[in-house]
Amino acid sequence: MAVLAQIPSPLDEAGLDAAVAAALADIAASESLEALKSVRTAHTGEKSVLAQSNRLIGELPPADKAAAGKNIGPRRGAISKAIAQKQAELDQRREEQILLEETVDITLPVNARPVGARHPISAIQERIADFFIGLGWEIASGPEVEAEWFNFDALNFGPDHPARQMQDTFYVAGEKNLVLRTHTSPVQARTLLERGVPLYIAVPGKVFRTDALDATHTPVFHQVEGLAIDKGLTMANLIGTLDAFAKAMFGPDARTRLRPSFFPFTEPSAEMDLWFPQKKGGPGWIEWGGCGMVHPNVLRAAGIDPEVYQGFAFGMGIERTLMLRHEIADMRDMVEGDIRFSTQFGMEL
Ligand code: PHE
Repeated sequence: MAVLAQIPSPLDEAGLDAAVAAALADIAASESLEALKSVRTAHTGEKSVLAQSNRLIGELPPADKAAAGKNIGPRRGAISKAIAQKQAELDQRREEQILLEETVDITLPVNARPVGARHPISAIQERIADFFIGLGWEIASGPEVEAEWFNFDALNFGPDHPARQMQDTFYVAGEKNLVLRTHTSPVQARTLLERGVPLYIAVPGKVFRTDALDATHTPVFHQVEGLAIDKGLTMANLIGTLDAFAKAMFGPDARTRLRPSFFPFTEPSAEMDLWFPQKKGGPGWIEWGGCGMVHPNVLRAAGIDPEVYQGFAFGMGIERTLMLRHEIADMRDMVEGDIRFSTQFGMEL
């Protein structure tokens, strides 16, 4: 802003005109309401040139006072008017700006039928299948309503084996010996019978247990079964396969551990855990699934000579795979079907 070095006398019309000209120039140059505010203070406030000159009127001889007043008053009026005009102009400009920013283009097409997203469980099942196809394995499937014989007997569960209760089985009402499969393992026996050996299959699918829904349990969940039967397969092949699977799912830094366990259809049996830093209640291991060397009785039930063919099997939890990959702490998010959950995953995992 232009500053006058000296306060002109109220009788100095040229000096007063210069003050007015400086004020009008500053007003004209104000591009914002904030700028105008400081221009107003500078040119109309107590310390402005015209206000100070006005105060000098008191020191003039009485004869000059009227003329001096006439010199100052209209000039101050002109400045105030220019400020008011500029203020109106800037107010309007701001209003237009706001209207422009808040404009809703009602001609844009609406998302009347929002595009859905595949459920992340479906998408990851395909990703898992891709991994095993990459190893040269085949994908197999079996019925979700399963004969008790395939779900238990063919897998070396004795008729009174406590595991039949341990697995909290849904029996189909009114049907003799039909269950909702409690694991994907019955597909082992089915596929051995159908396809024979050597056999390398992965079986992603739904399984059912009578668990109440909470953060870590759901009565309907998914597993991927793996079964490899060939000549000379050992536990080393099992560990190598699961290790590669874990790295494919969770990256090269995935941490896993095997714990000894028991299943009637494998011997020896183990449980594989994954390190889960986001676990509810603090970092820890979560069980990924069971595995082991296929029990000779399972091979015999499918008419295969265990002296010639051996192999390994595993059943890993798919929900747990997804939880670990995407830091999902609560299983219910995967079950409730809220589209806001699914859309986060889009089409790609
Ligand atoms: N079927 C077992 C379960 O659901 C997992 C498993 C599969 C264990 C294959 C060993 C071999 O817990």
